Amino acid sequence: MIIDDSILQKGERINLTLRALFSEYGYEAYRMSKFEEYDLYARNKDFLVSDNVITFTDTGGKLMALKPDVTLSIIKNSKDVTEGCRRLYYSENVYRVSKSTGSFREIMQTGLECFGAVGMKETAEVIEIAARALKALGRKAVLDVSSLALVERLAEDLGIGAEKRESFFKALGEKNVSGLKSVCKGCEEKTLGLLTELLGTYGSVKDVSAKLKDLLSGYSEEGYCREFVSLLEELKKSDVSDIVNVDLSVIGDINYYNGIVFKGFIGGIPEAVLSGGRYDRLMRKMGRQSSAIGFAVYTDLLEQEDGKEESGDEWINVALPKGRLGEKVYAMFEGAGYECPGIMDPGRKLIFENPDKKIRYFWVKPSDVAVYVERGTADIGVAGKDILLETEADIYELLDLGTGKCRMCVAAPKGYEEDASRTLRVATKFTNITKKYYQSKGRDIDIVHLNGSVEIAPILGLTDVILDIVETGNTLRENDLEIVETVIPDISARLIANKSSFKFKTKSIEKLAESLGAQAEERP
Ligand code: PRP
Repeated sequence: MIIDDSILQKGERINLTLRALFSEYGYEAYRMSKFEEYDLYARNKDFLVSDNVITFTDTGGKLMALKPDVTLSIIKNSKDVTEGCRRLYYSENVYRVSKSTGSFREIMQTGLECFGAVGMKETAEVIEIAARALKALGRKAVLDVSSLALVERLAEDLGIGAEKRESFFKALGEKNVSGLKSVCKGCEEKTLGLLTELLGTYGSVKDVSAKLKDLLSGYSEEGYCREFVSLLEELKKSDVSDIVNVDLSVIGDINYYNGIVFKGFIGGIPEAVLSGGRYDRLMRKMGRQSSAIGFAVYTDLLEQEDGKEESGDEWINVALPKGRLGEKVYAMFEGAGYECPGIMDPGRKLIFENPDKKIRYFWVKPSDVAVYVERGTADIGVAGKDILLETEADIYELLDLGTGKCRMCVAAPKGYEEDASRTLRVATKFTNITKKYYQSKGRDIDIVHLNGSVEIAPILGLTDVILDIVETGNTLRENDLEIVETVIPDISARLIANKSSFKFKTKSIEKLAESLGAQAEERP
């Protein structure tokens, strides 16, 4: 029977395409149950995207889980490979907590795993398959490759201890040079300079591998560096080299991966649709001696996509924060040569564009900028660091614009003395930051979330203190409040970019960021 493929749903077609590609490379289908003993996840929590797992008790009384991850089960159910490599592919649903809803979602993943003596040849082949998978999905695609081993070595040379590791990798993953410099304050300048230069060396493997090799000359004798440089040489020769980029900001999960890591993007989809890398660390933890590399394609992201072809134009969509900060920031965009007639005229219009400069501005609430950028509706935007920390948006932080400077503080009515024997009541617009701050101090609190005029909460007895931003200090003074503690000292406006947009509009975004950077430096 010949099946008419027009009856296939989009997700089914994507799956078939990927499965055909994987079997072309000799990968065998691997079928699993949806359930796994919970104990596997309890023992390997570090390797899961989140701690939350759906559990149930089976008929024999055993605690079971709906799979939050496929790789752990494949390793658990496979023997160590002592000769050659074992190649498997799967197409399975996993159950994870969604960041946006906070509840469980069923996510479809199609991916492959290669276990055994994984060397340069196998690594290059897996990356080639990942690139082909992206290409087969029929749109503009990019596969960013990095070496986590190299980045970890640089972190070690910089003396980044356990307490700074998370912020170091976060800043790196956000291409946040000013953040990296602040995490690495007091570290050796030369290594930090090398790291920021490596981070800025982003681009096609053809264009940047020679420069990268040069920059890494000091590490050329080390195994992971040799591996990375020769991998790039291999990839340069392959026929997918047109979509393979080098990008040291690709980190992946540092608990999971340990060597070459990569992420794939498709034009018009705001987040990575493919993620993978070398995970020997996980293999050792599970008692396996062999090496492993693999990747997963998040087919549900591709399914949700609206099918509109990218027009290929280079319009930049910018989300600006309405209000005082937005006016200052727009003046910087204008000074940088990205003016837009009529944008400052009073009125209720929210979208303005200048076709000559191919720029489109949206005025949005300051606290919403990060959402517009993370979801890719805006390619770039300007948001306060307070909002970025609160929302934990997955974006690139390209520039500190040096404006909108303020601090985040705990404040209370003058003369207030904390009673450590009681739960502390805190009013704030910044619930996440507040939670984390007091958690780190081990203080029991009750948060009252307010949307504005937070200062009156302790005056009226609603709470004991507030956690809020302080710019001039006038609001505190005029309401007889004073600062008790500074929680975050250096808040300012940041230029942020959607990760996927940055891949496909790199030159335009970099040019704009550079001109804005010059504006920021000229300001007093
Ligand atoms: C912010 C902040 C403080 C005030 C601090 O409020 O929440 O209330 O500015 O600035 P200052 O130190 O210069 O007095 P915003 O103006 O955003 O209004 P809101 O309280 O209604 O959110």
